[in-house]
Amino acid sequence: MAKAIQFFELNTGAKIPSVGLGTWRAAPGAVADAVTTAIKAGYRHIDCARLYGNEKEVGCALKKLFHNGVVKRGELWITAKLWCNDHAPEDVPKSLETTLQDLQLDYVDLYLIHWPVSMKKGSEGFKPENLTETNIPATWRAMEALYDSGKARAIGVSNFSSKKLGDLLAVARVPPAVNQVECHPVWQQPKLHEFCKSKGVHLSGYSPLGSPGPGKTKTQVLKNSILNTIGEKLGKSPAQVALRWGLQMGHSVLPKSTNESRIKENFDIFYWSIPEDLFAKLSEIEQASQCSCLDESNYQAFRIMAERLVSGTVFVHETYGSYKTLEELWDGETSDA
Ligand code: A2P
Repeated sequence: MAKAIQFFELNTGAKIPSVGLGTWRAAPGAVADAVTTAIKAGYRHIDCARLYGNEKEVGCALKKLFHNGVVKRGELWITAKLWCNDHAPEDVPKSLETTLQDLQLDYVDLYLIHWPVSMKKGSEGFKPENLTETNIPATWRAMEALYDSGKARAIGVSNFSSKKLGDLLAVARVPPAVNQVECHPVWQQPKLHEFCKSKGVHLSGYSPLGSPGPGKTKTQVLKNSILNTIGEKLGKSPAQVALRWGLQMGHSVLPKSTNESRIKENFDIFYWSIPEDLFAKLSEIEQASQCSCLDESNYQAFRIMAERLVSGTVFVHETYGSYKTLEELWDGETSDA
């Protein structure tokens, strides 16, 4: 029988369920049903964030599920994230408090710094003038206090390059348990994968199906021919192969869906595996940075955007904030390094 890979152990000793329901861009009105469907289908991990604007709705769904005895709080893993305009140390506990009120919970299982990017206190939206200098060590000390308080049972980061993660590890009293980053077969990030592994930081993959970021219109990942061929051989969908690849790499995966049959399909990845020879084929997938999907005329302008689905361009500005270029934001990890 194939290894089920239902949990990964974090450096805190806690076990994170390997598949979580993503809630980014789950429309208000749809997210409560998605959470309910997922938990009834067996999901025990929900990935939330203040930025997604739907935590209140997730909270209502959870309350109902607890009330109806479908699941107990202790059986669930809830991740939430600190948004960039709350990086000031005094704002960090307030931000978690708001999230806890919205989710109607006493604690989260994991609280992440959403981006290594600070925005001015109280600012809204993605205007360049909202960007301000980051001070990750100061924000992290406030995160450590939340860990000490028990309101965040584990703390971590998201969208951190190997360098930024290394810099944080050098000053952290409580090491980050997780780095949640874009990760899928067309954006495998072998360097970051190895670095996280060597430091005992669990890598959690968002957009594991290669969902297009804001402003992008189509998903290339699930159309990849190697994924499709493997899917046909195994009698699985390309989405299931992409997710199972993540599990076999040792990553937890956070597929988003608000569609009942796809929510179920994305959870049916435990009692089978991708055999070694086919798994090796997946490492041959042309990485996004090598794709010649843009023509010559716009290739240079959009070169870096083509490399990641979630490129972070809104966090880069020549005058405002800490990063003048995407190279600085990602510390060079803008290719398949
Ligand atoms: P939907 O919510 O209608 O199912 P990601 O997890 O990479 O962010 O991808 C999310 C996107 O992929 C959403 O547009 C979602 O649409 C779609 N999706 C989710 N599950 C599947 C699946 N099994 N097959 C194809 N598309 C899927």
